[in-house]
Amino acid sequence: MTQRYLRRYRDATRMNHWFVALMFFAAALSGLAFFHPSLFFFSALFGGGPWTRILHPFLGVAMVLGFVFLFFTMWRENLLDRSDREWIANAPKMLAGDKASMPPVGKYNAGQKLVFWAFGLSLLLLFVTGFMFWSPWFVHFFPITVRRIAVLVHSVSAVVLILSVITHIYAAIWVKGTLRAMTRGTVTEGWAKLNHPLWHRKMTRGE
Ligand code: HEM
Repeated sequence: MTQRYLRRYRDATRMNHWFVALMFFAAALSGLAFFHPSLFFFSALFGGGPWTRILHPFLGVAMVLGFVFLFFTMWRENLLDRSDREWIANAPKMLAGDKASMPPVGKYNAGQKLVFWAFGLSLLLLFVTGFMFWSPWFVHFFPITVRRIAVLVHSVSAVVLILSVITHIYAAIWVKGTLRAMTRGTVTEGWAKLNHPLWHRKMTRGE
């Protein structure tokens, strides 16, 4: 029997995704270098302390601008609806290995949708607060108290983003057959039926 595949992402979307992922690692590692002295060694990856300091804001802006395209391609499919509540309520059972009690999902499950909005919110906060203490360009426009709050919000948002990305990568590896959605752009019919049955039905309607 020949294996059938369904297209999940266009090439342009996949390139967009991997650009954001690459910029994320560059921005996160360069940012972590300033987060705590024990992490300063990451600056060696960017040519030392001064270069890490110069590059970090540009890498962050590139990541956010890349995500803006991804966001507008996908936001509709990530809107939460009523059935997502049931998925969230049953999520502990799924984590314990009982997949059968999960309600049927469409293109994305509620977990993916929540991670999507966590990406969006944390990136927005990182972007806005980052400008507030971007020295020497924009720092003069903001009073010191505002800048202090901005640094705190920037750090908390970075932690939220990093934890969300860890969850995202873990899920992509844990659910077997998912990675090829972003490496090849296609998934097997079996994967779609098992993990996203409503999306599978939509994609194969009339066949
Ligand atoms: C090595 C790092 C990464 C890997 C291996 C990875 C893997 C994947 C995979 C396999 C998918 C397809 C999931 C599906 O169609 O069900 C996906 C979707 C997606 N990824 Fe990533 N990803 C990575 C990093 C990132 C980063 C850093 C971001 C953004 C900050 C991101 C944002 C997204 C978004 C928005 C989607 C669309 C699915 C959704 O809305 O949940 N990814 N990723």
